[in-house]
Amino acid sequence: MNVSVKHTSAPAVETDLLVVYLFQGESAPAGAAGAVDRALGGRLSDVLKAGDLQGKLGESALLYRQGSLAAQRVLAVGLGKPAEFSLEVIRHAAGVAAKRARELRVPRLATTVPLSAGIAPADAAQAVTEGAILALYDFRRHKSQSDEPAVEVSDFVLIDEDADKIGALSAGARVGQIGAESVCLARDLVNAPANYATPTIVAEAARAMAEQIGLRCEVLDKPRLVELGMGAFLGVNQGSDEPPKFVILEHGADQGRPTIVLVGKGITFDSGGISIKPSEDLHKMKDDMSGGAAVIYALRAAALLDIPLHVVGLVPLTENLPSGKAYKPGDVLVTMSGKTIEIISTDAEGRLILADALTYAARYKPAAVIDIATLTGACNVALGSQASGLFDNDDKLAARLEAAGQKSGERVWRMPMFKEYGEQIKSDVADMKNTGGRPAGAITAAMLLSRFAEGYPWAHLDIAGTSWVDKPSKPYLTVGGTGVGVRLFIELLRSWR
Ligand code: BES
Ligand code: MN
Ligand code: ZN
Repeated sequence: MNVSVKHTSAPAVETDLLVVYLFQGESAPAGAAGAVDRALGGRLSDVLKAGDLQGKLGESALLYRQGSLAAQRVLAVGLGKPAEFSLEVIRHAAGVAAKRARELRVPRLATTVPLSAGIAPADAAQAVTEGAILALYDFRRHKSQSDEPAVEVSDFVLIDEDADKIGALSAGARVGQIGAESVCLARDLVNAPANYATPTIVAEAARAMAEQIGLRCEVLDKPRLVELGMGAFLGVNQGSDEPPKFVILEHGADQGRPTIVLVGKGITFDSGGISIKPSEDLHKMKDDMSGGAAVIYALRAAALLDIPLHVVGLVPLTENLPSGKAYKPGDVLVTMSGKTIEIISTDAEGRLILADALTYAARYKPAAVIDIATLTGACNVALGSQASGLFDNDDKLAARLEAAGQKSGERVWRMPMFKEYGEQIKSDVADMKNTGGRPAGAITAAMLLSRFAEGYPWAHLDIAGTSWVDKPSKPYLTVGGTGVGVRLFIELLRSWR
């Protein structure tokens, strides 16, 4: 999709569908909506007077060209109450508009940028662009015959009649486009069936992306992982015929900038292993590399936006399968750190591959390490799909993530890390065991990770509840992978001071 910003008044823009916005409770359309209303001879006012459009968030009314209006159609979209206005509202409303454009099968979509005191024009333009691009995402790769429209929105124009704002709107739209396209690419990888997204294939996708945009990429193969002593990661891989891969992406190295390491869980399919999962919903376990996908495409965005930091992405990739060679409950694994882990459940595999990746992360002398993982069903039980779990050993890093979550709309919720929770993962035979029972399951998983996140500020994001949606709660989400984490990381990195 081509995204651009144009200096023009709303009634003068030539397009297939022009979008204007109104707040709930407005007696008459204001701003750009008012100008459009006048060009239409008051027909938008008529819709409001009739009570057919109240301006509730997501409501919309479609009108056709008349009078002096240059656009073929106008869609008036509700923003809800002024007091509840936010960047998230803008994403929501723009998502509604983009979906309507697709239904109408129009290629050209133009939109005003809803603004209000307290919201920077650049941020608003970013949110409009994100809402539209994300709402238009779909995953059709494996459909041989498409029942979808042949016409897609191909030309997306943000308009404003204030010349002074155009620079900021352009900058914001660019960030929005790079971010949202990175999210869509992450969704593609999450939605890809496990037979189309083996560790080898995912590593190749990361490498190809990196080559295209000039990111540094290195993929460690099994012999190197053996040399490094990544016994936990290799233990999980034992049952699979697919070789493990460890992807390293790097942006902005060797320039004396602070280093932020992002670590993503890359289980390309989680059967549970010998502690096999029930078959219901097992097909969804192709999404167990959502954290890895978020890291790979956050690095893409970091490079394209040329973020002035050294950003490293680490993604350990393997399947978790049962076989005659698989690791077993009762086994003890020696991690890269030298610490030993007794396996209670082979289904608690994510923390094992992350343990070695967190140890590896220390070699970068990072200012912060953040891992992201579909780690525990318990986190989904605790927070559902409205927030990712946040666990950390550093108040400042936690605050940064909370702020980034608020601004990006990818909210996080901080969970306690009281040391007493550590009791639950005490082992009789090894330094620790890999499960802590049902109580506080998301926390005990994080407690295990914290033992490997040593010597640097660290945070862990559990996205088990947010990485996948069956019933999208927002117009810019679609069934399947959400790509959560990409926009959160972009916001975190962009606001790093
Ligand atoms: N990948 C799963 C967590 C998960 C479950 C994500 C459902 C999304 C939806 C993880 O590897 C896992 O199996 N965790 C176990 C841990 C348990 C054995 C301690 C869980 O949550 O049941
Ligand atoms: Mn598992
Ligand atoms: Zn898993």
